[in-house]
Amino acid sequence: MKDVYILAIESSCDETSMAIVKNGTECVHLTVLTQMDTHANFGGVVPEIASRMHTENVTMVLEETLTKANMTMDQIDAVAVTYSPGLMGSLIVGVECAKTIAYVCNKPLIAVNHIAGHIYANNLEKKMEFPLLALVVSGGHTDLILMKGDYEFEHLGGTLDDAIGECYDKVARVLGLPYPGGPNVEKMALEGKHSYDLPIPMNDDSFNMSYSGLKSSIINLVHNEQQRGNEINKPDLARSFQDVAVDELVRKSELAIKKYNVKRMIIAGGVSANKFLRGQIKEMTDRNGVELSVPSFIYCTDNAAMIGAAAYPLYVKGEFASYDLNANSCEELY
Ligand code: KG4
Ligand code: ZN
Repeated sequence: MKDVYILAIESSCDETSMAIVKNGTECVHLTVLTQMDTHANFGGVVPEIASRMHTENVTMVLEETLTKANMTMDQIDAVAVTYSPGLMGSLIVGVECAKTIAYVCNKPLIAVNHIAGHIYANNLEKKMEFPLLALVVSGGHTDLILMKGDYEFEHLGGTLDDAIGECYDKVARVLGLPYPGGPNVEKMALEGKHSYDLPIPMNDDSFNMSYSGLKSSIINLVHNEQQRGNEINKPDLARSFQDVAVDELVRKSELAIKKYNVKRMIIAGGVSANKFLRGQIKEMTDRNGVELSVPSFIYCTDNAAMIGAAAYPLYVKGEFASYDLNANSCEELY
């Protein structure tokens, strides 16, 4: 089969990103224009501002991606885009942009689920072999998935309330750390020790998790101490939180590995950029003789290369979207 080049677009949250991906495994060029500094002024993503900024930036990001890849649209085989889940206004900009390019240049269109994108980011490191256990940890998802083949997602369990990324961001807020919270909590935790006694997210043997209790206990602890005029040891609290939050992911992943006897595991989503999580999961997989694969840091958080990687199996199967594709804020993958 001849080489397949996919132009991919990702705009589901606050990154305007495009990439050209070869055969689903090799990123020719990735452009990520982040709006982080703008949203940091508000302590989180403001949807209306995000979609307006995507609109202003898509043309520039497209030009830059083709120029840096030294390619023209004639060499592109298909256009892929994130259509769900995400912020509606942000998704619409990417979807309309992809539809326009595909229609004008007469290319097939591929609709990609954002979470499939996070999972397939792993193919940019090393092609996934099945069966495998996928741990998806992002701002909106915390799930354990069993994959027996391409696009075969069996949902084993996940958070019943808040996602772990959301929890990191909330803890950052109460600790007075700037947006985006996750990386800042990770950094602060390095300076602390585990001295706060916090509730375990879900102390059972199911594959479900719950992070809202942990989040609330930290918010309450900080408020109570502030009201009493007591100092909070912020690095210690960050460390105690991270230990408990990550330990739950490791414990539940290990249960799934044992129950389904899988020999391979991957991590996906923004929180997979966390070095402590990567280290703890690696220790557990080594202990169980399981091969672990994690995306490079640039492919962990939102980017279009992962969308190009996830689009490739759909291209091979001929699963194309029609030119009247719509964005969908909450279509789940599993
Ligand atoms: O996958 P992602 O970029 O966007 C979503 O699809 O949600 O994930 C964003 C989430 C945010 O909650 C962010 O704080 C978290 O991933 N995150 C981290 C780290 N880097 C990003 N959380 C903990 N440690 C990190 N190093
Ligand atoms: Zn994401």
